[in-house]
Amino acid sequence: MKAHRLILNPYGYEIEAREGETVLQAILRSGFRVFYGCRGGGCGTCKMRLISGVVERGRCSRAVLSEEEEKQGYFLSCQAIPLSDVEIHLVAANRLEKRSGIWHYVSDSEVHHK
Ligand code: FES
Repeated sequence: MKAHRLILNPYGYEIEAREGETVLQAILRSGFRVFYGCRGGGCGTCKMRLISGVVERGRCSRAVLSEEEEKQGYFLSCQAIPLSDVEIHLVAANRLEKRSGIWHYVSDSEVHHK
């Protein structure tokens, strides 16, 4: 395995996912904020859509990601690990933001409000 390139559409941001890192971890580590909840595949708030490339989808509850959605390319970013360079489509519900001064990213699992 190796690092892979992630393109975040429709914004066109390009980031890198390290080996074994989930899409969500890569986004947070790269200086962005997105909306997410449980980080365990159970709430569906981190759902994004794959446009191209391959991800290992990981654990997910059928209640939050239907087979139909999966066929359309949707995946849970807290679970999905890129296996190739990927292009992702974010929607308004993902609330992508560049990290600002009032938020400080502390570690892989915590975002603290200063
Ligand atoms: S954050 Fe809950 S499913 Fe990803």
